[in-house]
Amino acid sequence: MRRRQTPAGPRLKKSSSPLSRLRPLPEDEIFGLQRTFGADPRPGKLNGAIGVYTDETGKPFVLPVVRQAFEHLQAANFNYLPIGGDPRFLELTAKLVFGEQRYGTLAPTLVAQGVTGGTNALSLFGGLARTADRRPTLIIGEPTWENHKKIFDHLGFAWKTFLHLTPAYTFNLAAALAALKTRRPSWVLLHGGATHNPTGVNPAKQEWQFLARAMAEYGHTACVDHAYTGLGDGLIEDSAPIHQLISLGVPTFVAVSFSKNMTLYQHRAGALLYAATTAKEKTAVTSHLEHLFRATNSNPPAAGELVVGKILSEPQLRQQWEGELAAMRASINERRTQFIKLVGEPYGYLERCRGLFSLLQLNAKRIRTLREQQGIYLLSSGRVNWGGIATLDLPRLAAAVRTVA
Ligand code: LMR
Repeated sequence: MRRRQTPAGPRLKKSSSPLSRLRPLPEDEIFGLQRTFGADPRPGKLNGAIGVYTDETGKPFVLPVVRQAFEHLQAANFNYLPIGGDPRFLELTAKLVFGEQRYGTLAPTLVAQGVTGGTNALSLFGGLARTADRRPTLIIGEPTWENHKKIFDHLGFAWKTFLHLTPAYTFNLAAALAALKTRRPSWVLLHGGATHNPTGVNPAKQEWQFLARAMAEYGHTACVDHAYTGLGDGLIEDSAPIHQLISLGVPTFVAVSFSKNMTLYQHRAGALLYAATTAKEKTAVTSHLEHLFRATNSNPPAAGELVVGKILSEPQLRQQWEGELAAMRASINERRTQFIKLVGEPYGYLERCRGLFSLLQLNAKRIRTLREQQGIYLLSSGRVNWGGIATLDLPRLAAAVRTVA
């Protein structure tokens, strides 16, 4: 039987696109709440959800030194940066993280790739791990930053998790050490310095030593998510665990972000650093990172890197930045302390926290009530960002938490 002809020829038998099988995913909680918060017309709304620092009146905040550096940015041309990023930025970032002295030792075999923010640094690390290890396992404490799950799930990692906290809201060293005890060399994701996201509870110096020893013994590779450098105890103090890892011979990557400590959030300035041990390893790792980066981003965005480079290289700006960072850190800690005083027991455990985040022990229903009835935005896990709640709003937050508890 002849097929019916149309003016355009025989009728097409259409196959459906694979896209038609896609089902929508749930919205990202952090950015979803940010969107809802923006659309919320209530004047007294409070945003303790997304990890952004606001000033003492609750307004968006840019460090004065960063504004200044932006004003003087040389814009002779907008040519591409090299695939690896701006060399001056990379060197200064490595010196900031490792310290001048250790940088001197590490420099000949140091790998540094500019990235688009901490998320990209982590996914680049994951992409490299995937290239080197066909069945990579990520060892990580839970709870963790929700984007960690997305990044490493997307890359097909198997997970080995342990409970980051004990029931007493302290670091669970025993659980971490038990998870590290595996003869299969794995990839261990650690929260840098004194700024665990979301709990605010960090291993003590001696505990880092135990962790580093276990990682060295079992042949694991560490990746330190260093997104909050300088917002825990200080620039030098927050990087101390990295020295402990390297000193014990643990292959160590550092995912650096300047989003928080330079308030450069939307500029995505960051780097992935790796302290390689041989020239051969440096060459191989550099080439793979460049290959991965070229295939996904081509080369890093320049504005943030140039601003960071300027601030870190000019002594007066550098000094100013360190002072402003210290003030931001002190204000975050002060807000938490004030809250503890205002709310009283049973929130005394928050004294053990450092950095932007803590978990308020409220269930998701109570968190929703806070949002719907009082316009107070927190993550459903109970995570609060102290940097997002201005001091003058703390009494309101404390009263609301007491009411729903
Ligand atoms: C956060 O944890 O709120 C921030 O790091 C923002 C983000 O990208 O999730």
